[in-house]
Amino acid sequence: MTVIERYEALKNRVVKRKDEFTALINFMENETDYLSSPASTRFHLCRKQGLLEHSVNVAETMLKLRSSLAPEIDEESCIITALIHDLGKAGMPGVPQYLENEPTPKQKQYGFPASIPYRINESLVYLSVPVRSLYLAIPYISLSESEVQAVMYHDGQYVDDNKSVATKETPLLLLLQYADTWSTFVIEKNTKRK
Ligand SMILES: [Fe+2]
Repeated sequence: MTVIERYEALKNRVVKRKDEFTALINFMENETDYLSSPASTRFHLCRKQGLLEHSVNVAETMLKLRSSLAPEIDEESCIITALIHDLGKAGMPGVPQYLENEPTPKQKQYGFPASIPYRINESLVYLSVPVRSLYLAIPYISLSESEVQAVMYHDGQYVDDNKSVATKETPLLLLLQYADTWSTFVIEKNTKRK
């Protein structure tokens, strides 16, 4: 299945909150760079559509974890939080967070790509990725406290700012955090450019 087919299958599983979710998805797809953005400047999935592929990997992994560890958690909460956890990486409408780097003239001459595929767009006001994700999503969909916690702190204790959530994690956050790290470091290993 292509990434788009996997993404469509995930979207189709959101039924109870379909109206809000559709409004959110329309915004993400049509007004932000969600569908074309890379997932990073030079690490995992630093290529066109990398952010979408990462979001789909995280959602699918999170659903697997949910099935075996916590089937009582709402499946739609998993899909929604996974698909939006890194939405902030798309930047703001019309202002993408990632800008494509041009190869140097010498690289061009020999048919090589730029050494670092993307750079961060410094014209954005600094917000952490999860804060921007929530800022973008909340006008379109109401999220529960647990969903906000999951998106906000999905990097877990890798990030100093997240000290405050240590020992207070909900099961939803734990699933999202593990699905995110598993996707990044296992599924997406060696996806720098391919
Ligand atoms: Fe992520």
